[in-house]
Amino acid sequence: MASNARFEYVDLKPGTSSFLQDVLAGLSAPRKTLPPKYFYDARGSALFDRICELPEYYPTRTELAMLAANGADIGARAGAGSTIVEYGSGAGLKTRLLVGALHPHTYVAVDISGEQLQSAVSQLAEQFPAVRMVAVCGDYTRALPVRQLEIANGARRVVYFPGSTIGNFDPSDALAFLDNARAVAGAGGAMIVGVDLKKDPGLLHAAYNDAQGVTAAFNLNVLERINRELDADFDLAKFEHRAHYDAQAGRVEMHLVSRCDHVVNVGTHEFRFSAGETIHTENSYKYSVEEFQALATQAGFTPEHCWLDPERLFSIHYLAARR
Ligand code: AVI
Repeated sequence: MASNARFEYVDLKPGTSSFLQDVLAGLSAPRKTLPPKYFYDARGSALFDRICELPEYYPTRTELAMLAANGADIGARAGAGSTIVEYGSGAGLKTRLLVGALHPHTYVAVDISGEQLQSAVSQLAEQFPAVRMVAVCGDYTRALPVRQLEIANGARRVVYFPGSTIGNFDPSDALAFLDNARAVAGAGGAMIVGVDLKKDPGLLHAAYNDAQGVTAAFNLNVLERINRELDADFDLAKFEHRAHYDAQAGRVEMHLVSRCDHVVNVGTHEFRFSAGETIHTENSYKYSVEEFQALATQAGFTPEHCWLDPERLFSIHYLAARR
């Protein structure tokens, strides 16, 4: 474990070979797909920050307002002096609100994007000098040995996963993820998780097809990243962004639609696209309170409380780990 005066740093970053393998596997599938975690290079993260401020994208401002309104209640349930383990870089206001409300002994951020993570945790360390700060660079979509890192210090652990990023997992992966989070929290620990709710499809459609085209740029940027990092030749002008809500599956799907028949090379591999064929780049599942509580219960949590905003757009769940 490397450390400097202000925060400790743990490097568990996978090599670029897993990016290449995932891209080749996704583009070779009968229905082409790419994992959404690759959206977040420096430009993708900046575009996502802009999405969070769009008038149509309600989740971020709604969750923030809920944290501001309910911080004391959340803090009272979680208790002071615990270890917060956040999945995500901790870059935003949500983290500051939670750390401010919980007064933890230790704060651990786990994120794949090393530079963003280090800058976020170093800023947090400045704002909260009394809290031990740890940055873990790793892929939290795979089970990470967080408990073996000896960062928990015997304190009560509270896993924090805001932003409804849980919605970007398919339900079976969400269950496995929650099960791992429950193991990280351990008996007596807890999880605080932000989950986007099912709602009027018109609102969902607008949120993922914003008028300024920022979501489209965010979606297309993954192709630019593949070009740069994996020696590929995607022509971005040959693809367009599409997002729609599938009510039966309970999810918003994002796709990149090929505008014509053409061929793309990724390194030495060739991929054929026909006009109208899509690369499925993201699912964003929406849950009712009951659906999410059922999933959490299956993963070994007891749902203890759920906060909702007045418009019933978003939910924040407080889950106690049963084992
Ligand atoms: C990060 N995640 C919760 C976002 C979502 O709403 O599913 C990612 C996103 N994709 C398009 N807009 C935002």
